[in-house]
Formats: sequence, C-alpha cells, structure tokens
Amino acid sequence: MATLSNAVAAPTPQCLNDFALLPTSRFKLTSMLDQTMAFPSTGVNGIVLFGLYGTGKTTLANLLPGLLESAKAHSDPSNMDANALVETQTPNSQYFACMQGQNGLTLIQGIQSVTSFVAWNTSGLHYVILDEVDLLTDAAMTSFKSVMNRKNVVFIMTTNHLDKIDPGIQNRSVLVDMNQPAAAHWRPLLRRVYTEASLTPPSDTVLDQVVNAGRGSARSIFSDIVMSANQARRDGQRQVATVTNIRS
Ligand SMILES: Nc1ncnc2c1ncn2[C@@H]1O[C@H](COP(=O)(O)OP(=O)(O)OP(=O)(O)O)[C@@H](O)[C@H]1O
Ligand SMILES: [Mg+2]
Repeated sequence: MATLSNAVAAPTPQCLNDFALLPTSRFKLTSMLDQTMAFPSTGVNGIVLFGLYGTGKTTLANLLPGLLESAKAHSDPSNMDANALVETQTPNSQYFACMQGQNGLTLIQGIQSVTSFVAWNTSGLHYVILDEVDLLTDAAMTSFKSVMNRKNVVFIMTTNHLDKIDPGIQNRSVLVDMNQPAAAHWRPLLRRVYTEASLTPPSDTVLDQVVNAGRGSARSIFSDIVMSANQARRDGQRQVATVTNIRS
C-alpha cells in the first residue's frame, strides 16, 4: 500500500515493551519468557489472551511464538530483559482464524495434521495460534481439549469472551487479561509516536484523555494519536497541544 513519505504511522510492536499491559499480565508473560515459570510444562501448554475489542490480542498472539522460541534459544534466560526481547529465531507456527465456516472439526483435523510432524525448530515445539477461539463449535471445542494433550505443541488463543471457553481449556492455559491498564502505562508508547516524527508530544493529561476515551483499544488510541501527529506536521507545528478523539 502506498503511503505518503512524510506520513506518521502507528508502530509495529516487536517486544512486550511495545504493548501497554496490566502489570499482572506483563508478569505472566515475562515469567514464561525468562523461564521463571516453566512453559510449556505440567499439562499447561496454552496461553489465552482475553479482553475487549482492539486491545492487541491478535497482534500479541502473532508475536508470541517468535518471542517464546527466541527465549528458549537465549543463552542465559534468567538474566535477560524479557520485556525487551525481540524475535531472533523463526518459530514453527500456524495461524488459524476461528471465524464462521472455519470453526468445526475440519479445523481441529488441520491442527492435528500440522502438529503430527516433528517440529524443525531448536525447541522441537509447534506453535498453534487460534484467533477468536470462542467461535469453535461445541464439538470442535471438545475435541480441541484432547488435541491440547499433545506435548510438543504450544497453543496461543485469543477471545473477547473468556466465559465461552471450555473450563478444561482454561485449566490447561495461562490466562492473560489484555484489558485496559492504567493510562500511565500508555504514555511512553504514545509519546514515542510524536518523538519519532520529530514532534513534541502533548501533556500527560491530554494523552490520558485519549487512552480513557479509547477504553484501552489500541485500534482507537493509536488512530487518534497518529491523526494528531499528521495534522501537526501538515500544519507545520512542532508541538502538539490537543488531540481530537475521532475514533473514540
Ligand atoms: N502495542 C501496539 N502497538 C501498536 N499497535 C498496536 C498495538 N496493539 C495493537 N495495535 C494495533 O491495534 C489494532 C488492533 O489490534 P488487534 O487486532 O491485535 O486487537 P484485538 O484485541 O485482536 O481486537 P479484536 O478483539 O477486535 O480482534 C491493530 O491495527 C494493531 O496493529
Ligand atoms: Mg483480534
């Protein structure tokens, strides 16, 4: 897609530091990477990212296989900065969108067949991403539970509706709440959009208003911020004082 050469764009997240997360959620994710918590292990081989629309679940789900695989290849995991870890290893991963028409037993068979080969990664693990896993049919959900018993597979799932996920699947998974953290957690990410565009960011009060209006949706928050940066550049301003909440 063609973009204007001087247009500001939302950043592409590459590490956990690029996400605004609840402290408990960040702790769970970093513990899996730096191996404070052995993962996968003791029958726990799933990660369920749950939360409202646009909170970054699909984005993080696609990033996690590379981060987990890279953490496993790290020479000294206990001394690494898990929040700053970026992908250094290509994971053996597959993405499945559980939307209508792709949510039944055929999908489960697809997962079974891709995970029945020996994975070629260093870790020997397959990573299976199931986006919007609550949309699985009842039959698929039941049979998925038994697929989860495979030892060489990590399952990364997203959902807007945690209550619709079978308790047996939840029990085999680390549950990560992707809902809105305090606005302060967003400030460094949003300031960076302006500074990378050679602009002076607005005050924390203004940034917090954008986050609160967007209710934690990265989709809404970044589009409001990016638009204000583009407006300032178009108008030849260096300092951004206000942000209009178009999306929220
Ligand atoms: N930390 C982030 N930094 C920059 N952009 C982000 C970040 N998280 C999400 N985004 C962007 O916000 C948008 C929404 O993110 P995403 O699709 O991952 O949300 P979601 O939680 O899966 O939403 P839904 O519940 O609607 O499926 C995407 O365009 C994504 O690129
Ligand atoms: Mg999504």
